[in-house]
Amino acid sequence: MGRKILVTGANGLVGSTLVPYLQSRGYTVSTLSLTLAVDVSKALQCLEKPDTVLHLCGENIGEGRWTEKKKKRIYDSRVHLTKQFVDHLVALDKCPAVFLCASAVHIYGDCGNESVTEQHTLSNQLFLSKVCSDWERACQGIENISRVINCRFGVICDETRGAFPKMCLPFRWKLGGVMGEGHQYTSVVSIKDVVASILFLIENAEASGPFNIALPENPTALAIAHCLQKHWRQPFLPKIPKKLITSILGQKGAELFFVSINAYPQRLLDLGYRFISPTFTEIVHNLLK
Ligand SMILES: NC(=O)c1ccc[n+]([C@@H]2O[C@H](COP(=O)([O-])OP(=O)(O)OC[C@H]3O[C@@H](n4cnc5c(N)ncnc54)[C@H](OP(=O)(O)O)[C@@H]3O)[C@@H](O)[C@H]2O)c1
Repeated sequence: MGRKILVTGANGLVGSTLVPYLQSRGYTVSTLSLTLAVDVSKALQCLEKPDTVLHLCGENIGEGRWTEKKKKRIYDSRVHLTKQFVDHLVALDKCPAVFLCASAVHIYGDCGNESVTEQHTLSNQLFLSKVCSDWERACQGIENISRVINCRFGVICDETRGAFPKMCLPFRWKLGGVMGEGHQYTSVVSIKDVVASILFLIENAEASGPFNIALPENPTALAIAHCLQKHWRQPFLPKIPKKLITSILGQKGAELFFVSINAYPQRLLDLGYRFISPTFTEIVHNLLK
């Protein structure tokens, strides 16, 4: 496998950890900031032809209210931008051998108590499930030429960025609570496992198609709250009503906190990947020690 890697969305949570991780393993990494307004072919001409492209960019989902404008940015920066980017890569005289694109476990929609593998039917029932289905479909234009990998990430836990510090904050103040009854599953994964599994997949010639990047045993909202309560020795654990969250956060609150997704990383485990932090308790222990 060639050693030249191009990363989009490199300033994000994943990209900013991944780029130095790949460099430390001897890869030559270049980065590209994409928007629909960027002249991609011109930008690509200025870069060395990559052997592998890691396409991670997209409007942040966790920040700000989901207004119609914000939802359009979330959709366009994934679906339209990916289609456009893929068209430009295919037109290169040397198309990259590997094209890895971010996706999310939200592609399955609400799965209740069921544990879902990559074989599970995809859903269009929720805004995020439609975004993810169309995002993966947008990669199809390069499938005949490159090895395409779609990483269906769970919530990525990092000490300082993304959802995890926000989850922890109320518990630090001993004011944490459980989202509703807490029966809903949240698929989670540590940032260390995200970067290690990306490297594992790009280096493994057999890896192509969708991969759940989430723990083999995902916690429920109640298990997450119990774990954080224990860590900060919070005496009480109140329930936060769904109505309260959705009246404050609207559709974003409903889709991010009350949809139950327990994504099992079947294909990653079948290829022999071993998780660095295989349980949520270990993620908390490793990030907060
Ligand atoms: N973090 C999670 O828990 C999680 C879970 C599931 C899926 N994912 C997906 O995995 C990918 C990487 O996640 P992340 O946490 O690193 O995301 P992030 O921190 O939100 O960063 C995404 C990056 O995309 C670029 N970007 C931002 N807005 C954009 C826009 N409107 N148009 C084009 N590019 C834009 C920026 O990079 P540059 O400034 O370098 O261009 C930004 O740093 C994302 O696509 C995300 O949806 C993440």
